[in-house]
Amino acid sequence: MIDDLPEGLTARHPAADDHPRVLAVLEAWWGGLKGAAGARERALLLPRLYFQHFTTTSYLVEHADGEHGDGAHADGELAAFLVGFLSQTDPDAAYVHFVGVDPALHGRGVGRALYRSFFELARSDGRRFVHCVTSPQNTASQAFHTRLGFTVSPVRPDYDGPGLHRVTFTRDLA
Ligand SMILES: CC(C)(COP(=O)(O)OP(=O)(O)OC[C@H]1O[C@@H](n2cnc3c(N)ncnc32)[C@H](O)[C@@H]1OP(=O)(O)O)[C@@H](O)C(=O)NCCC(=O)NCCS
Repeated sequence: MIDDLPEGLTARHPAADDHPRVLAVLEAWWGGLKGAAGARERALLLPRLYFQHFTTTSYLVEHADGEHGDGAHADGELAAFLVGFLSQTDPDAAYVHFVGVDPALHGRGVGRALYRSFFELARSDGRRFVHCVTSPQNTASQAFHTRLGFTVSPVRPDYDGPGLHRVTFTRDLA
């Protein structure tokens, strides 16, 4: 499904049962960004519906078992995820809603591999643009998306509601 992951990792589409596993890693993987308010915001951004109704355009990466594993991780241990979808409204657009990689795997191309697969999926459905947003404090996300060829907006005050400022990203797939 994603052929350029580091050895020992495998990808599949998520299912509803994966929802609690993903919620359980958010705090560790986001490193407590924006404190308790940030944790609440993140949990609310990822309700179960994404694991019920957006599964075919989303990915889960797990540590492989047996001889393909690295021996350091349990079989099936969560390594990364991407929750995305094709816009219902704009036939040119696809959207990455949430992406996370285990900090132990940062900098090894897992995030890039997830996006590459999502770009292919979006292209094969005739989509031209991929959009996503992050908070102004998430400078790592801004650096990552810039490296992947996204254009980055200035901070957009109250974009997601009062006090919920955002930076928006767009990648042209053409
Ligand atoms: C952002 C995140 C998904 C990147 O995943 P990753 O697997 O470490 O990224 P990759 O190894 O695929 O890196 C791809 C490119 O981005 C760059 N990059 C990644 N993180 C970076 C950082 N913190 N600062 C600068 N550049 C960074 C890499 O150097 C690489 O560039 P290169 O290929 O030209 O060398 C990961 O850091 C993460 O999960 N962070 C916490 C959750 C989060 O903030 N998610 C995004 C907002 S919803």
